[in-house]
Formats: sequence, structure tokens, C-alpha cells
Amino acid sequence: MRYFLTSVFCLIASLVFCGEDFVTFNDQTQNFELTKEPGQIELTWQKLQSYVQESFSANETIKDDVLSINTAFLNDLAYIKAKKSGGALKETEFEMLKQWAKELQTEKNIIDNPQNIELSPSTLTEVMKRELVLQAQRARTFAYAPYSKFHVGSAILTKSGHIYTGANYENAAYGSTLCAEGSAIAKTVSFENRGTSLQMQEEIIAVAVVLRGGPGSPCGNCRQSLFEFNPNMLVIMADVDGEILEKPLSELLPMGFGPCNLKKAEVK
Ligand code: THU
Repeated sequence: MRYFLTSVFCLIASLVFCGEDFVTFNDQTQNFELTKEPGQIELTWQKLQSYVQESFSANETIKDDVLSINTAFLNDLAYIKAKKSGGALKETEFEMLKQWAKELQTEKNIIDNPQNIELSPSTLTEVMKRELVLQAQRARTFAYAPYSKFHVGSAILTKSGHIYTGANYENAAYGSTLCAEGSAIAKTVSFENRGTSLQMQEEIIAVAVVLRGGPGSPCGNCRQSLFEFNPNMLVIMADVDGEILEKPLSELLPMGFGPCNLKKAEVK
């Protein structure tokens, strides 16, 4: 009986605490730790705020930049806290928020692929998807969005395992703004394309997009720009806390217009 109760307890405990770890600030060691149970919740959030703010403010040279990065970071922080209604900080949220400080970023240009998986939209692992989202969030902190104050980050993954990130950049002539996805496509083309290789070989297999208020999906124009290169790529849409929604591009742009439509119209 005792054995039975113990196993039931373990099962319930693993269901309650399954999945992601909490991040807790340890007062004794003065460090952040991963824990199975949340520690002092309010203290942890406060320490995270100063941990990020102190690291970026020390390295920004322009006062206005400190102010705008600070506002953007605090808005993400407040948004996540409100979304969780008082819950404890999770590891994913910690990693996403940390990216606001350049010094705390983990830049990655090639995806970790320890098992040498042949990369395609359907073979990506959860870890790879998370990594792509993190890189999109990292890029998001470089957005030039003085008019909308709406920061968007994007990260494209190619078959070769390369990651190309982009951020939106705006213009005083508003219409000349470029979306984060467009800026990531520009980088991908200029690094990997030869002739029409990027499109012909469906080299782009996934794109992650991060914006606050999501999981937010790419605008119509970006869907079209992405569709050119691979209608079957995986679109990983993420909120700033790391919440993910994923769909194949062909579902976001049904019956889209692509290179094959021009081919079909050719008169032989
Ligand atoms: N934006 C993107 O970067 N990607 C999208 O898919 C939607 C919109 C940017 C453009 C502009 O700088 C800001 O978000 C507000 O529209």
C-alpha cells in the first residue's frame, strides 16, 4: 500500500512539475538557479530586471538607446508577468528576456545538430525550434523601430544548418520600412544563393518570427516573400515569452502565387 501511495505521489509530482524548470534567484549564492519548484517569485523577477538592465546600460553609448532599450525590455517583462498573472519565472522566459542585454546573448549562426539529422521542415527537433526562436528574439533587440516601437525579430534556417537573422527597420518615409522577415531573407540570399539555387533546392526550411502579443504571424507581404523560396517551409511564430505556434507556410498562404505559376504560363 505504502509503495502504491509513493508511486501515485511521484506520478502526480511529475505531472505537476513536468516540463520546464523554474528560474529562481538564490539569496545565499546571489545567483540564478534552475529549480523544480519556484522560489521567491517576486524577488526573482526583481533580480532578473536589474541583471538585464545593468548589463545593457553599461555598454550602450547613446543615452537615448539606453532609454529605448530599457522601455522595450520593461514592456516585454511587464507583458510576460501580466500574461502569467503572478506566476514564477520559467527557463524559456528567462532566456528570451536575457537577450535584451547584448552581453547576455548567445549568438548562434549554425544550429546544433549533434545527431547529424538531415534537416528538413519535418525533421527539426523541439530543441532546434527553440534555438531558432531564441535567435529571432536576439535579432529583435536590434530592431530599428523608432516610429512604431514595435520590435520584430526573425531567424531563417537553411538545409545547411545556417541561421540568418533579421530585424525590422523603419524609415521616416514610413512606406520604406522593411519587416524582420524581409531583412532575414536578404541576409539568406546574400550568403547562400547562387543563381536560383536557394529557390530551386528549397534551401530555406524554417523561419521563426518573434513579436509581442503573438504568437504573431508574418504579414501578408512577408508570407509572399517567403513563399517564393519554399511554400513548405515551417513558420514558427512566437510570443516574447517563447510561446510557439507553428504552421507550414502553405497553410498561412493557401493557393499562394509562386515561381511555378509563372512556369505553368510558359508557352512552349
Ligand atoms: N513588422 C514586421 O517586421 N514583420 C511583420 O510580419 C509584421 C510587421 C514590422 C514592420 C513595422 O516596422 C512594425 O512591425 C509595425 O508594423
